[in-house]
Amino acid sequence: MSATFDTQLPLPTAEQASQVRVPTRRRYLMCAPQYFTVEYSINPWMDPEQPVDTGLALAQWTALKEVYQQLGHTVETITPEPGLPDMVFAANSGTVIDGVVLGSRFRAEQRAAEAEHFRRWFLRNGYRDVVMPTSINEAEGDFTWTGTVLLAGTGFRTDPGAHAEAQEVLGVPVVSLNLVDPRYYHLDTALFVLDDQSDRPQVCYFPGAFSAGSQKVLRRLFPDAVIATEADAACLGLNGVSDGHNVVLPLEATALGGALAERGYQPVYVDISELRKSGGGPKCCTMELRG
Ligand code: ARG
Repeated sequence: MSATFDTQLPLPTAEQASQVRVPTRRRYLMCAPQYFTVEYSINPWMDPEQPVDTGLALAQWTALKEVYQQLGHTVETITPEPGLPDMVFAANSGTVIDGVVLGSRFRAEQRAAEAEHFRRWFLRNGYRDVVMPTSINEAEGDFTWTGTVLLAGTGFRTDPGAHAEAQEVLGVPVVSLNLVDPRYYHLDTALFVLDDQSDRPQVCYFPGAFSAGSQKVLRRLFPDAVIATEADAACLGLNGVSDGHNVVLPLEATALGGALAERGYQPVYVDISELRKSGGGPKCCTMELRG
């Protein structure tokens, strides 16, 4: 009576059963794009001739913030400052692990003043261990915590000296990675962490953004990583934010979302078209406050 099998619910395979993804609650710091414009160009995405709709950017940012809140996460905010149009990209202003804050030092003078506003926010909000870097350091733009090691990008923004400084200040092992494609100028445009809660962290990345040696390092460290395509990367799909189960992605990143769903993750799509005109996506707008 083989026909009766058709009506039975399929049991998960052993592999699927081991892919139950558990979200953990996060605390994020964000900055509203109240003064967002593209009036200078410090990456290939930024064209000051292209019109920008600040109201639309604000609506997209607000929707992103609400997605985090609906997922059960806490969102703190910092007051935006006039004259700092990129301050919305909060990820660039601090790396926080176990309550220790390593601030930032921007490469572009147009963004330099952001670092001090964030430093003051940390001090006002109870952080006692706040260190400002001496090397160029664009924080979570180039630093990604996997739960066991801190992946650190260099090539366009953050200086390699900042990697050694991060290891010393944060007391975590740092793995340096070389970025080679100017479109993927920050590590967080080419790689993000899907699961930082296990002793076998899982990441997703676009190999083409990395030097040959760094690609080897990534293969060695993360043999079962989700490998993204050029199309995934080109909509800033690698600028995702994962809580271990839900993965917030730009809405164009449907192929990547499908690949993640196959691994047991839940893609959550947001429209960040206006912020992308500055080279930013969901992760750029989101600094994680750990501990
Ligand atoms: N326009 C900004 C810059 O070039 C975008 C920063 C995006 N932030 C990020 N974490 N990748 O600096």
